[in-house]
Amino acid sequence: MSWLLATVSASIGKKQCMALSGLALCGFLVAHLSGNFLIFLGPEKFNAYAHFLESHPLLIPAEIGLAFLFLVHIGLAARVTRENWAARPHGYAVKATEGGRSLASGTMWLSGLITLVFLVLHLIHFKFVADDAKMDLHKLVVTTFHSLPYVVWYVFAVCVLGLHVGHGLKSAFRSLGLEHPKYTLALLWLSRLFGVAIAIGYASIPIWAYFFTRTLA
Ligand code: HEM
Repeated sequence: MSWLLATVSASIGKKQCMALSGLALCGFLVAHLSGNFLIFLGPEKFNAYAHFLESHPLLIPAEIGLAFLFLVHIGLAARVTRENWAARPHGYAVKATEGGRSLASGTMWLSGLITLVFLVLHLIHFKFVADDAKMDLHKLVVTTFHSLPYVVWYVFAVCVLGLHVGHGLKSAFRSLGLEHPKYTLALLWLSRLFGVAIAIGYASIPIWAYFFTRTLA
């Protein structure tokens, strides 16, 4: 893994690689959410979409690409966080909100870690499941969200994700040199809005399933 990170970060720098991989992962979040919204249209539409993806010849290359993006992003994040911690002055208690750092920026490592735990559990629950469960993913998703602790965990995790991508997007613009004094505020609000939309969009599915589909099961 370290040779991969060294190769990737040698030419354009760690921050830029994190920004590019983060932007691509944001693209995945939008695509995944758009597909997931089909769940509101009922089992036929949602399962047909899932089966279309499952049988698509480009699925495996797309999954390899996605795994690569996650590995690059997480690997570089771990390295940058370690370096930042090592560079911190010892003997001082530095608050996350001091020195112009917001709560979101000071806790990016924690929100990233929670998202990683969420992702692993998510794949275990919805991706690596028995073939008969795969046949009716609509039922699997909806019945999973009939458990209140699961809904609470999901909503918490996607709010953390929203915080992470909201701040990450803003940082990505800066790392890629796309910021301009004229647009700094607009980019800040655009990034925040994106984070909020991701959190609300993803949270809407467990909340809907819990409150509106329990009589159907
Ligand atoms: C309510 C929210 C969500 C629902 C209902 C949902 C649903 C699903 C389902 C049903 C699958 C399996 C698809 C299949 O095997 O064909 C899946 C896969 C996946 N989900 Fe989610 N998901 C949600 C949120 C998220 C979030 C927030 C992330 C990222 C942090 C995420 C990342 C993934 C990934 C990486 C895969 C594997 C994709 C693949 O390999 O094809 N999901 N999701």
